[in-house]
Amino acid sequence: MKNITDKNLVFIGFMGAGKTTVGQLVAKKLNREFIDIDEGIEKEFHLSVSQIFKEYGEAAFREREKRLIAELSKQKNLVLSPGGGAFLQEEVRNACLSSCLVIYLDISFANWKDRVSLLMDTRPILQNKTFKEMEELYNSRQAMYANHHIKINIDDKAPEEIANLIIEKLPLK
Ligand code: S3P
Repeated sequence: MKNITDKNLVFIGFMGAGKTTVGQLVAKKLNREFIDIDEGIEKEFHLSVSQIFKEYGEAAFREREKRLIAELSKQKNLVLSPGGGAFLQEEVRNACLSSCLVIYLDISFANWKDRVSLLMDTRPILQNKTFKEMEELYNSRQAMYANHHIKINIDDKAPEEIANLIIEKLPLK
């Protein structure tokens, strides 16, 4: 293995782009610890993300999300997978962009639409939205995802291929 950066890798991208699947694969290949931020928040609340949104509201979820990412972004050699809305917060963007390597998993809306049925039940942000509204949300998120260090288009690619492409693109120390 080449002498790659020891910075944390942070995966960003729209819900269902594969941040967790690909992040886990990359972590395994690099022998790094993988941390799913949503899972960490769920553990703190002892509730699912949907339940947190319902019982405490999105603002409480975002606050924990911000705190957890701020803490972890100071470490090294981790692979972090925050939820697709984490980069909405400027402090999250700044913390990740300044001390980690941010990898954007770019999925087209056409491709994403095929995955939506798998996401509906567990993503409170999508509930009660029409396709048009989901597309508007997708479009409105693009500007914040433009803040990254590495971008991979993932349409029609298998997780293994995406993980290998990412590893090839990692900078040296
Ligand atoms: C969200 C994305 C979800 C989760 C929460 C909110 C968002 O994570 O954090 O439901 O606002 O885009 P995934 O991107 O892993 O689905």
